[in-house]
Amino acid sequence: MPQTSAAIPTYVLPGPKGKAVVERETARLTTGTKTAPVVVKSAKGLLVEDVDGNVFLDFTNGMVAATGHAHPKVATAIAEQAERWLFINSPDFYSPLQAEVAERLAKLVPGIAGKKVFLCNSGTEANEAALKATRWNKPTRKRLIGFLGAFHGRTMGANALTASKIAQRARFTSNIPDVHHVPYATCYRCPYKMSYPSCDIWCARILEEVYFKQLIPPDEVSAIFVEPIQGEGGYIVPPPEFIHIIRDIAERHGIAYVDDEVQAGIGKTGKMLAIEHFGVSGNCTSVGKAVGSGVAVAAQILDADLDFGQSGAHSNTFGGNGIGLAAVKATLDVMEEEKLVERARELGEYFIAKLRELAERHPAIGDVRGKGLMLAIDFVTDRASRNHNTELRDRVLGRCFVHGLMLLPAGFSAIRFTPALVVDREQIDHAVAVLDRSIREA
Ligand SMILES: Cc1ncc(COP(=O)(O)O)c(C=O)c1O
Repeated sequence: MPQTSAAIPTYVLPGPKGKAVVERETARLTTGTKTAPVVVKSAKGLLVEDVDGNVFLDFTNGMVAATGHAHPKVATAIAEQAERWLFINSPDFYSPLQAEVAERLAKLVPGIAGKKVFLCNSGTEANEAALKATRWNKPTRKRLIGFLGAFHGRTMGANALTASKIAQRARFTSNIPDVHHVPYATCYRCPYKMSYPSCDIWCARILEEVYFKQLIPPDEVSAIFVEPIQGEGGYIVPPPEFIHIIRDIAERHGIAYVDDEVQAGIGKTGKMLAIEHFGVSGNCTSVGKAVGSGVAVAAQILDADLDFGQSGAHSNTFGGNGIGLAAVKATLDVMEEEKLVERARELGEYFIAKLRELAERHPAIGDVRGKGLMLAIDFVTDRASRNHNTELRDRVLGRCFVHGLMLLPAGFSAIRFTPALVVDREQIDHAVAVLDRSIREA
């Protein structure tokens, strides 16, 4: 497979072999969230080859395979671990590998209190663990707080905190009762029609000044779930004061602050955890996606005093399986050895400058935002109204795939960019050229 692709290709998607696979999957898989008919044969670094021989530059995989598709060190570590042991029922037994991974994950989160780690298989499960741990330790506090636009998972507990799209909620309520959602700091389209900074961060202060007086008794709240940058909601970066104020309110009212780093964490924003940009940390920290370079592994890293402390209160089967542990260890090693967090910061600056230039040429791009290599452009009907232009966003996405660039949508009108952190400038230039052409065609 070529490692770069200078010319912009034009593919018919799906190709003939791909079409047959699309039909087979459609017949047998439950409806999910398919974006494009890319039918993968192999993937390496940032390149994906489909079953018809088309090669794509993948600017989606950094969200999960942050070290790149099939990083040789990660792949080797997994293969070697498969020879050693695959499954030893890690919640029941012990291993040096599990001890090391727990220690290294605990160290990711600064804090005076010691940390404990719950190993699991998905971001959803990491959030469920936070939900249960905080409920277990604060049994009289049965309320939870989340933010509009948030995504915390799809099982009934985590879904109760998710409030990103109606499709995720319709027919599923009430999954758990007494979850209150308040608007997030969405400055580009402020729900209160205010402007930063003259708003004095009303979206954060309203929690204490209005909700805690009229609707939510704070001493009944066990946890507040916060994404440091809203992912599914559209790559919304809040002003630092927003996180500071919410963190402070949580602290003063004995409410556990759950920092959901499943999407924003593990280096892609130019910090290991995105909340580090704001100089604070959570009582509970959910990590997933990129922590295993593509292997289904996640973790809840919580203040030691939030541990369950009673055998059987919470556990699982596959948490701490050999492949997951080997993948986390190798991912953290590669991040350090290849200085991928620093790389995300540097290349993110390069990439966002290119996206801003692109926005100068295309008035349909209303906003360019993000941190590090977690970036987005937002399509508007016009810059004055800032109304979502979902149709145009979707057409642009379609053209990008035809021209060999894999991207994902976010929110109602944004395209998100999360290339693997091993991306280079040439690949960024190529992606921007494809975008430029796709926007013109759309
Ligand atoms: C912020 C956030 N939390 C939780 C989840 C759920 O993770 P998973 O799909 O691994 O269960 C996601 C998934 O997109 C996410 O973006």
